Amino acid sequence: MELSTLSTHQTPFYYYNMELLAQTLQSCSAEAKKYNFHVHYALKANANPEILKSIVNAGFGADCVSGNEVLRAKENGFANTQIVFAGVGKSDQEINDALDADISCFNVESKQELEVLNELAAAKNKIASIALRINPNVNAHTHHYITTGLEENKFGINHWELEKVIELLGVYKNIKLVGLHFHIGSQITDMSVFKSLCLKVNEFVSWFEDRKQHIRIINVGGGLGIDYVNPEEHAISDFEAYFKLFNQFLTVKNHQEVHFELGRALVAQCGTLISKVLYIKEGLQTNFAILDAGMTELLRPALYQAYHKIENLSNTNTSEKKKYDVVGPICESSDCFGKAVELPITKRGDYIAIRSAGAYGEVMRSGYNLRVANSSVFVPSAPLRDRLSL
Ligand code: LLP
Repeated sequence: MELSTLSTHQTPFYYYNMELLAQTLQSCSAEAKKYNFHVHYALKANANPEILKSIVNAGFGADCVSGNEVLRAKENGFANTQIVFAGVGKSDQEINDALDADISCFNVESKQELEVLNELAAAKNKIASIALRINPNVNAHTHHYITTGLEENKFGINHWELEKVIELLGVYKNIKLVGLHFHIGSQITDMSVFKSLCLKVNEFVSWFEDRKQHIRIINVGGGLGIDYVNPEEHAISDFEAYFKLFNQFLTVKNHQEVHFELGRALVAQCGTLISKVLYIKEGLQTNFAILDAGMTELLRPALYQAYHKIENLSNTNTSEKKKYDVVGPICESSDCFGKAVELPITKRGDYIAIRSAGAYGEVMRSGYNLRVANSSVFVPSAPLRDRLSL
C-alpha cells in the first residue's frame, strides 16, 4: 500500500499483509507435513473472518477457547471434525453447543469438568471425545502472565490427580479418552523449552499406556515465539527447526497423531497497527508523541510491557533522530507503546506503524473510554520484506 492511500482509511486501523500471511501458512504447513503433524490454528490470536478464510484454505484445523470461537470457526468454514475446544472454564451452554456441533475433541482441564461433560453428553445421548489437558510443570521461560504449564497456574490437571481421573474414566460412559493435551505458554523463543516438554510428554503418554489407556492424539499446544525486534529479518518463524525438534524428541507410535495449536507464529507478523500522531508534547526530559491509537487498540505493551517495533511512515529520514515516549490518548499512564523510542523528527499528522501486531492485537481490543473500532485493511499482495511492509 502506498503511503498516499493511507489517507483514505480512518486511523487507527489494523493493516494486514495477506501475502505474508499466505507465505507463513505455506511454510508452516509444508514443514508440518514432513512429519505428518497436524496444526490447529488458535483462534484466540486473531479471529478476524478475513484471516480465518486464508487459514481454512491452507488446510488448518481450529483450536477454540470459547463457544463463540467454536461458532466463528464453523461460520468461516472449518469442518466440525477439525475443531477442538479447550479452556479452563467452559459453561454448560458452551459445552452443549459444542456437543450439538459434533466437534472433534474437548480438551478437559479438571475432574469436575469431566463429570459435567459426561452428564451433558449423556443427556444428549452422545459420547464426547476428550483429551486430558495435563499440567506438565515445565517452565516456558516467558513472561509470567503468559506461562501456563506450571503447578501454580490454573490450567490443566496436575499429575497427582491422574490415578483418580483414570478411575473416573472407567465410570463415565459418555466420554471417551482419545488424547493428551499440553500447552505450557506463549512467545517461547528458547527452543530447549520444547525439548523439555517433549521429554515430559513421553513420560505421560507411557504412564497412560501402562494403565491400558489408548492415546491416539498427542497435542503439544502452541507457543512458538516470533521476533518482535526484527520483524523484517524474521518475517516468518523457523517452522523447520520447530517441527524437526518435536520429530526428534517426541516418541510417536504408528497409531498416534501429533497435534499443534499455533496462534502467534501464524498471524503476528502480517499485522501492523497504523496510527496518526495527534500531538507532540515537548518536555524538559521527555518528549511525547501522542497517537490516536492506544491500549484500547493494542493492549500488549500496557499489560505485559511487551515490545513492538515503532516506525514513522511519513518521515523516514533517519539522519536526524529524537527520542519520544510514544503514548496513546487513553486516560491511563500505562497507555504507552514505548519509552524513549528513537524516531526521525516526528510531527502532528505523521503516520506511525506499530509492527508485529497481528496476534493478540485486534482481538484484545476494548471499548474503554467508549472507543470505537475502525475497519481493518487487507492488502492482497504487498512486498514481503520491504522495510515497512506497506
Ligand atoms: N493453545 C492453548 C491452550 C493456549 O492457551 C494458547 C494461548 C495457544 C494454544 C496458542 O498459543 P500461541 O501459539 O499463540 O503462543 N495474549 C497474550 C498471549 C496469550 C496466549 C494464551 N494462550 C499475548 O498477547 O502475548
